[in-house]
Amino acid sequence: MEIIICKTKEEASRKAADLVAALLKAKPTAVLGLATGSTPVPMYQALAKDCAAGKISFKKAKSWNLDEYLGLPPTHDQSYRYFMDKNLFDHIDIDKKNTHVLNGLAKDWRKEVKSYEAAIKKAGGIDLQVLGIGSDGHIAFNEPGSSLTSRTRIVSLTPQTIKDNARFFKKAADVPKQALSMGVGSIMEAKRIVLLAFGANKADAVKGAVEGGVSQFCTASALQMHPDCWFFCDEAAASKLKLKKYYAWRAEEALKAELA
Ligand code: PGA
Repeated sequence: MEIIICKTKEEASRKAADLVAALLKAKPTAVLGLATGSTPVPMYQALAKDCAAGKISFKKAKSWNLDEYLGLPPTHDQSYRYFMDKNLFDHIDIDKKNTHVLNGLAKDWRKEVKSYEAAIKKAGGIDLQVLGIGSDGHIAFNEPGSSLTSRTRIVSLTPQTIKDNARFFKKAADVPKQALSMGVGSIMEAKRIVLLAFGANKADAVKGAVEGGVSQFCTASALQMHPDCWFFCDEAAASKLKLKKYYAWRAEEALKAELA
């Protein structure tokens, strides 16, 4: 695990975008795993800027998203398909046919998740997975108690996640209670992981993920077992880390080497 700690979320997002950009330059047909939520938005903006400036292209890239609310149509302004179009796909040169988001309206969710995982496998697996982290340490919608070997499936949101996400809906009662989500085991198969965490309300989750025991009660802690995982944090999100000075020093070197 490399932990990059930056003064602001903009700076951290720019650095994370540099890793994505480096991948696209080295492998234009890259398979990206993408995340929703407020956290990745500044990184998506940085990537859109690079694309507009002709520095990178997503023309040959493919993407799969982590999750989708159950019961929301893609046209709903809180569906994750809608989010991805508005916050990234409409601003880059990706072919939307190559972008995949789980279908929250699927009649047979088992069939949906099976074909989703099969399609990722057929594409060669995810080269780089972008992740946020929930205040309870979840990745995708893998809430505390999710098996660390879980696959893409139907999940129930915790009251905490419903509360956290209520800010995007008119009222908390409008937040769907279930979702389709890639599992921790599915996420762990990505060749590289880039997790973003900003703000003091993520400090406990980051602490648990990085310095806690590996446990299904903080599903992000499974990332300690991943061979190529990068955390990009602002100072507030990293504030509870015991070894933050060491991580920052070590990671700067690692990132420089990676982008050289
Ligand atoms: P946020 O959500 O980016 O909106 O904080 C992160 C998550 O729940 O994974």
